[in-house]
Amino acid sequence: MPAPPFPATYLGMKARMPQPAGRSPSGSVEPSPLIRPARPEESHVIADIHVRSWRAAYRGMVPDAILAALDIHEHQQHWEKAIAASGRGAAVLVAELNGPIAGFISYGKRTPEDLPKDTGEVYKLYLDPDFYGQGIGGHLLRAAVEGMKRGGYARAVLWVLVANRRARHFYEKAGWRPDGASRIDATGADLRYAITLG
Ligand SMILES: CC(C)(COP(=O)(O)OP(=O)(O)OC[C@H]1O[C@@H](n2cnc3c(N)ncnc32)[C@H](O)[C@@H]1OP(=O)(O)O)[C@@H](O)C(=O)NCCC(=O)NCCS
Repeated sequence: MPAPPFPATYLGMKARMPQPAGRSPSGSVEPSPLIRPARPEESHVIADIHVRSWRAAYRGMVPDAILAALDIHEHQQHWEKAIAASGRGAAVLVAELNGPIAGFISYGKRTPEDLPKDTGEVYKLYLDPDFYGQGIGGHLLRAAVEGMKRGGYARAVLWVLVANRRARHFYEKAGWRPDGASRIDATGADLRYAITLG
């Protein structure tokens, strides 16, 4: 039997295999997805989730014209390349929930800017809107943090829309904090969040 693509310490034992649903402190049932590297043939499904999640989450935050112009085929090409470029310190991971893919995360090396070279970046984290609010984003984020630690990064950053309060709260719950950097592009104003990878 071939070795799994990532050792258990990478994904966390709980995330290695589909598990019975657990109960959150509030009593709601949270699913335990299988977190694994994306396969090349999944670039279309990832692009589809990416576009639908943008349209569901960013309505009213990002100009409607940008949301309307999102093109799944363009995104698919991006994801084909990102999956092909995965290796040590860079990956596209998916959360699989009893078959269907519920969401994905991608990370890799931070493009050099004002930060040290051993800085990783979470590039994208998007769930299928049907799966928001069930803890699946946390499974993906923890797996990416473990992957970046294994890749030798000492810290990591990510960008989030100032207006995206739900995501900002989610990252803050996970220990990420704004590091003071900001930027503005066509989609709106972003804040940079950072975490030390201990
Ligand atoms: C942000 C995201 C990755 C978080 O993953 P998740 O699995 O939904 O995370 P959680 O289950 O911990 O929920 C996060 C918060 O969103 C809230 N939430 C979830 N679904 C919601 C919904 N449909 N409407 C309003 N709030 C919702 C939850 O109540 C929770 O808040 P709480 O901690 O106060 O209870 C995911 O919701 C998502 O993909 N959002 C859209 C895309 C996005 O914003 N990505 C981040 C880009 S930087």
